[in-house]
Amino acid sequence: MANSSESRHGMWSSRWLFVLAASGSAVGLGNIWKFPYITGENGGGAFVLIYLACVALVGVPIMIAEVLIGREGRQSPINTMRMLTQQHRRKPAWVLVSWMGVLAGFLILSYYGVIAGWALFYVMRMAEGTFNGASADFASQAFNDFLADPWQMVFWQTLFMALTVYIVGRGVVKGLETAIRWFMPMLFVLLFVLLGYGINSGGFAQGVDFMFSFNWESVTGESFLIAMGQAFFTLSLGMGAIMAYGAYLPSSASITQCVVTIAVLDTVVAIAAGLAIFPIVFANGLEPSQGPGLMFVTVPLAFGQLPFGALFGAIFFVLVSFAAITSAISLTEPALAYLVEEYNAKRSRVAISLGVVCWLLGIGTVLSFNEWSDVFVVGDLTIFAFVDYVSQNIMLPLGGFFIALFAAFALPKAVVVSQLGLKGRVWEVTWKVLGGVVAPLGVLTVFIVTIIGIDTIKDWF
Ligand code: PFF
Repeated sequence: MANSSESRHGMWSSRWLFVLAASGSAVGLGNIWKFPYITGENGGGAFVLIYLACVALVGVPIMIAEVLIGREGRQSPINTMRMLTQQHRRKPAWVLVSWMGVLAGFLILSYYGVIAGWALFYVMRMAEGTFNGASADFASQAFNDFLADPWQMVFWQTLFMALTVYIVGRGVVKGLETAIRWFMPMLFVLLFVLLGYGINSGGFAQGVDFMFSFNWESVTGESFLIAMGQAFFTLSLGMGAIMAYGAYLPSSASITQCVVTIAVLDTVVAIAAGLAIFPIVFANGLEPSQGPGLMFVTVPLAFGQLPFGALFGAIFFVLVSFAAITSAISLTEPALAYLVEEYNAKRSRVAISLGVVCWLLGIGTVLSFNEWSDVFVVGDLTIFAFVDYVSQNIMLPLGGFFIALFAAFALPKAVVVSQLGLKGRVWEVTWKVLGGVVAPLGVLTVFIVTIIGIDTIKDWF
């Protein structure tokens, strides 16, 4: 079967739209909500450095691998892997990687919709002026009250999922391109407004110190796993989302340039979010390790002290919701594109079915914060914590591991050379080392460190 130069699902209008769309997928709750709170829970500086190393050494090569496989196949990840394994006579078992990605997408979207619902709820609360001049205690209490009410949470989750389904159903290329062009730059501007507030809050030095001072004592074996999981999550890797988007990338675009731009943009947003949030945490005597509620307490608190805070705060949460939608859409794309290809189904119908399944699964997350807060799947992990842990820290890295190996060793050299435009032996070797050795070995090392435990390793020295 000849590989086509266009996808049946449509194509991005230019490489910049691919960069924006993939950045839209990458920049989301992972950067603004998750990165600050897991950095807080994992002791700050040391965690940030391990995370940055994971992005550069593991994330970038794996993103290159995903885009190149996607563009070579120009179909949904499942059919792309199926076609490439047949074409190059590789084991059909490789296709399992893309099936695992579809499953990870469902699991992630199930809780992603719930948390994005929180952001929608905060649009309303901010606009009402609830936090004008509020104290830190008031902001914490308001959030706890919200978490205690499953009906409220389901209402906002439903709204978010319905919006996502609507956009996905209309077609990613048409619906998304316009939204992305507007909302991504606005998100940047508002994040920098919040950063400016953080700088002037009186806690900036403490915030910077918390994020960047390397404290070896606070590193555990798990810190490595969580940092790597976060690198995968924030770059949308390991589940085929970027592979699906790569299928719509024009042939003339340079994959490496696009990927580096996306990774830099994503990292800048995460660091800026941390630098905006932690100073406010310290200036108000809040705990950096307060968990998933961190952003929903500190951001309203900060805007509540600013002139026109209700307006800017509401706009901020609108943009967080949009950042979440552009990510949620990419979470559905691998499964959606597959079902459209396989059954010639209507995109809008498939979108509704997928939305309903993820919505139902998401009820488990909603209840984890109230009625079922003492129901643990394993150890002290609630349903939300379990689904989050397994999908982010295990499924995504495992998926990424096999995707890198497939690109580096199962695809013929000629395919990789032409997709990546590698000119000369030096570049070929560089790719092989990064994609075939450094990235997979990085994932493997982190898994091993987690299993053995960092304390045992520290004892060896
Ligand atoms: N990268 C998104 C974020 O940081 O919020 C989350 C995500 C989107 C993960 C798409 C995985 C994915 F395929």
